[in-house]
Formats: sequence, C-alpha cells, structure tokens
Amino acid sequence: MTTRTFYIESFGCQMNAHDSEKVIGTLISKGYTQVDTPEKAELVLYNTCSIRDKAEQKVFHRLQQFKRDAGKGKVFGVLGCVAQQEGEKIFDRAPHVSLVAGSASYSKLPQMLVQLESGNRRVTGLSLDTDETFDTPFTRRDNPHRAYMTIIEGCDKSCAYCVVPFTRGPERSRTSASVIAEASQLAANGYTEIQLLGQNVNSYRDPSPVGWDFATLLARVAEVPGIRRVRFTTSHPRDFVKGIVDAIDANSVLCDHVHLPVQSGSTRLLRLMDRLYTRDEYLRRIEWLKNARRDISITTDIIVGFPGETEQDFGETVSLLDQVEYDSIFGFKYSRRPNTAALAMGDQIPEEEKTRRLMIVQEKQRAIQIRRNSETIGSVQEVLVEGRNQALGQWIGRTSQNRTLNFVRSVADSEALIGTYLPVRVTRAGPNSLVGESMV
Ligand code: 5AD
Ligand code: SF4
Repeated sequence: MTTRTFYIESFGCQMNAHDSEKVIGTLISKGYTQVDTPEKAELVLYNTCSIRDKAEQKVFHRLQQFKRDAGKGKVFGVLGCVAQQEGEKIFDRAPHVSLVAGSASYSKLPQMLVQLESGNRRVTGLSLDTDETFDTPFTRRDNPHRAYMTIIEGCDKSCAYCVVPFTRGPERSRTSASVIAEASQLAANGYTEIQLLGQNVNSYRDPSPVGWDFATLLARVAEVPGIRRVRFTTSHPRDFVKGIVDAIDANSVLCDHVHLPVQSGSTRLLRLMDRLYTRDEYLRRIEWLKNARRDISITTDIIVGFPGETEQDFGETVSLLDQVEYDSIFGFKYSRRPNTAALAMGDQIPEEEKTRRLMIVQEKQRAIQIRRNSETIGSVQEVLVEGRNQALGQWIGRTSQNRTLNFVRSVADSEALIGTYLPVRVTRAGPNSLVGESMV
C-alpha cells in the first residue's frame, strides 16, 4: 500500500512545532501531500508532548477517536515525546498505531516511511543513542515572516521533575556554519525574525573547530543582513552568562526579552529539583538583565507543589515574583512523570493545594503585569505586524519585548501590512496586552 496524503497535529513546545515543520517538509519531499483533516488523510501523525500528564493524555484521546478507521487504508503514527517515553507500549494501548518515533530518530524518517509504504504494520524509531541533529533542507515553515531554527537538541541536565532528558536525548549542537547558512537562507527568502530554539538554548557550543559559544553565535546571527529580530528560547539559568546580556546590549537586532525559567524561589527546593543554582545565583542573573542599557523584559516558568514544597518554600516563590517583577510567567502545577527522580519522592502535595498555590501565583502576577504594562503607556514601540483582528478593527503587533500591542491606523490598509514593522504609541494597557495607535 502506498500512503500519499498525510495529516499532522502538533502538541507541546516550540521545539515540537518546529519539528513538525521539518517532518512536513520531509514528507512533501518524498511525494506526500498535506491535508487539513485526519478524515482526508491516509497517514495520520500526532507529534506529542509528555511534559505534564494532561498533555500526554491528549494523544490517547485523539487515537481513540479513530480506532475504527484502522485497517481502512489509514495508517497512524505517534511522534515526539510520548512516542519516545512510551515506546512500543503504545502499540498495546492503541493497536491501530503503525509508527512510533521519537524526535532523536527523525533523521531516519525517510527510511521509516519506506517501511510503512511497503506494508510494515509496526515501525519504530526509538534510539536515543545519537550525536545527530535533525537538519533538513526541506523544512516547511508555517509563518512567512518569523522562522524557528533549532540550534541545539536534547538536554544533559537532570531536573528531578522533567521528562525531557528521557524524551529528547543528549545535547547535540549544530555547527555554527550550518546555523549561519540557514539564517542567511531565511533572510534571502524574506524572513526578518529568527527564533533560535533549544531545550537549553544557551548551552549551545559549536562542535566545529571554530568553537563559538552561545553569546558569539547570537551576535553573529544578529549580523546576518536582512534579519531584523532574533529571539531565543529556552535559557537555563545555570548556563546564562553575562556575555549574553552584553550581546543584547550591543545589537538591537537581539530582542529585548529573555525567558529565564526559575521554577521555584526557594533554594532548598531548587536543590531538591537539581536545578544547579540558588535563589541568589538566579537573582544575580536578573541583576545583569536589569542593569543592561536596554530595557529587557524578563519572563519565567514556575512550578508549584513540587514534592516537599512547604508553605515557607512557596512563600519564597511568591516573594521572588515581587522581587523580580516578571513581565509574564507560565505557572504549572507539578505533575508526576515517568522515569524522573521526583517520582519516587515522598511528601507529594495534594491536588487542591497545588491548585490553591497556583491561583495565588497567578493573582499576584496579574497585578504585577498590570503595573508593568501600564509603565509602557505613552512610549513608542516598534512592532512586527502579525495579523488583523477584524472584529475589533485592530492590527495585531508584537514588540521587541515580546508584548502583544494591538493598534489602530487612520489610513485604510491591506493585508500587505502583515510582516512589516511600524512605530506604535501605547495608549492603554491590560494585564496581557497593550493597545496603541500607529505613528505612520
Ligand atoms: N510538572 C509541571 N511542570 C513541569 N515543567 C516541566 N516538567 C514539569 C512537570 N513534571 C514545566 C517547567 C518547564 C516548563 C516547560 O514546563 O516549568 O520550564
Ligand atoms: Fe513537551 Fe518537553 Fe517534549 Fe517539548 S520537549 S514536546 S515541552 S515534553
């Protein structure tokens, strides 16, 4: 049987979204056609996330919906983190699945497709033993202006709550030459914003003899002609060196935004989490950012209810929010994950208590954001126009600090405005976005 149409749905982080773009490009290069519903497709792929239990359950719900379609010319594949984590157990749970492959095996995707096409009922790609990265010239990017680009895959840390080291394998950096070549190609194709991706993006280390560190790579990508904005995510505080702040200060192409996940404000808990830094060491990095010449926005991830988190530990997370005044945060309730060190820890926090703590964090942060965002009223910010909200009669823009700034214009415009850069004066501020007026 030859499978020629495919559908793919992606869950989880930007790394996953970008992996899907590479998978799509690879499939198209092999003669497949992408369709927009699973019903129309012969090959149905789910690129999955297992960071928290809820994310993991989603794929099994999806697979259940199509249980009866198996064997009627439809082939199902599970890719990504759940595939890597559950491996062949997926075949037991969802027997109509034919392909199970983790992200560290995507470079073998063409061979796996050949096996599927020749009628193999069970094809797997589950080895984590790799020093390869998934660089492909076939990437099919979704957005014509902003491009994701992986510079480092995998993770060598061992945070006690986290599945990523088990689902994405060891750290592998791309050569700086291939990063610069892809950035130049993107600029030639009209992209103006590049978002450099990695689970620990700032652990980047050029494997070629040139040996650039992350700060050097940032500076060089920012010099690629035609590129107006460079972002990067996600940074690990332990590897966050002052040189990164200096690079941002030196070149305004590097956006005024750093996402620096702290997870907890308690040094005791950070040690239990195996985060490799103390509250004070983290705060030193925040000082570098606050003392920069540029006004760099700072965002973070917080986990509440990690095993053993006392009321005092939690209080230290809340006080950290006040101390840092983040521009935005992602807050999560701790979720027990397979293989991780925290799974076996005693003193699990009850679900209702996690919910209570998360609500406190979110309320506190909401007040901080209202305050932080109001400080921008009256300022003029350059936005990249991302879209249009017809109902509100507004354009949707994004500032260098990664804020959404919706704005109106007195001139009648066409969709051609999308992808351009405009100066916008901020007139109003809410907790999650700003409103303004175009200056031109
Ligand atoms: N439970 C809850 N949140 C988690 N994260 C990672 N693992 C877990 C888990 N087991 C959060 C962290 C990380 C973000 C991507 O997801 O805050 O920075
Ligand atoms: Fe989810 Fe982590 Fe995998 Fe991204 S790397 S898809 S966040 S489990």
